[in-house]
Amino acid sequence: MKIINVVGARPNFMKIAPITTAMENQDRLNPILVHTGQHYDAGMSDVFFRDLQIPQPDIFLNIGSDSHARQTAKIMIAFEEVLIREKPDLVLTVGDVNSTMATTLVAVKLGFKVAHVEAGLRSRDRTMPEEINRLVTDALADFLFTTSQDADENLRREGIADEKIFFVGNTMIDTLMKYRKTAQVLQAHRQFGLKSNNFALLTLHRPSNVDDHDVFRSILAALQKIQQEIPILFPIHPRTEKNIERFGFSADFNDMSNMHYIQPQNYLNFLSLMIHSRFVMTDSGGLQEESTVLGIPCLTLRKNTERPITITMGSNKLVGNDTEKIIAGAEQILDGQWQRSQIPPLWDGQAAERITNILVKSS
Ligand code: UD1
Repeated sequence: MKIINVVGARPNFMKIAPITTAMENQDRLNPILVHTGQHYDAGMSDVFFRDLQIPQPDIFLNIGSDSHARQTAKIMIAFEEVLIREKPDLVLTVGDVNSTMATTLVAVKLGFKVAHVEAGLRSRDRTMPEEINRLVTDALADFLFTTSQDADENLRREGIADEKIFFVGNTMIDTLMKYRKTAQVLQAHRQFGLKSNNFALLTLHRPSNVDDHDVFRSILAALQKIQQEIPILFPIHPRTEKNIERFGFSADFNDMSNMHYIQPQNYLNFLSLMIHSRFVMTDSGGLQEESTVLGIPCLTLRKNTERPITITMGSNKLVGNDTEKIIAGAEQILDGQWQRSQIPPLWDGQAAERITNILVKSS
């Protein structure tokens, strides 16, 4: 069974890594890796291939950044040629980025089967580009591999047949479990002069938070207060860095004596920072799940989440982008009032195995 595995952007890499490994161990599967190049910087892409021992892509499409329509269209045009040439038995896509949706759409139109890993997550917020990507991808895919049972429910409600839905667990957590010990002993926080359990780790990159001046200002005001209580370590996404300059916030960031803003980190460093942090503040999807498994309190700077299990079972809480709510959330954590998290069902390091076993059986 010839399978094209697709990756494009940073959050895809940790999800595909265990799948490529599991496929290598199955004689009946012949995987090819296609990287669209949606993310292309060494720090946003290359370093993850090295850290996570992902094989070098067999095909690199070199798409780069652009508007949504242009980026999606360029991926579609380039991927169509790949499919016509390679004629795979299956295309496997992960997550919810533009590369996920664009490659799914092309494959289905050419009559190729598609598997979507991390299917069924819904924020019910259609202003979020990823929500559109999820809806389109899931409507078209043939195998829908889910990370939680609420995702199965979402798919059923959208009329997806039961036979297409497979609750398999979370491949990003497979990767976390594999590298957790190594990351723990790495103690990456020391590079920044910080003490274990005595700093907050911040990531911020959603357009809804960082592309709007007033919203970003409101978050900034919260950070100014929180860093007076605990140092904040902030690996900065390229989009956010550009907007800090554009909105004239550079001086505000530089004036915060306890705000350490650093380059995007490689996987192991970042995991190490998360393990040793007192809490996480983020607008990312993946971090909500990783912090739940690690039992690290997480404040999500969004009004909704497509990952509700991280709230019902995990250590996550939604605080939106309101200054006072963010500060109150941080104070609650510092006062020790936080829900202990449980690990959600099947987040056990075996999800990629389950996926490949299902694919082999279907072949
Ligand atoms: C994309 C995903 C998002 C994911 C995020 C993780 C979509 C719609 N969004 O958002 O779901 O959470 O990746 O990072 O697919 N840039 C660089 N170097 C790079 C990549 C991007 O400098 O390697 C800059 C570019 O100026 C670009 C901006 O970052 O315009 C945004 O990149 P883009 O891939 O469009 O979206 P992300 O915000 O990264």
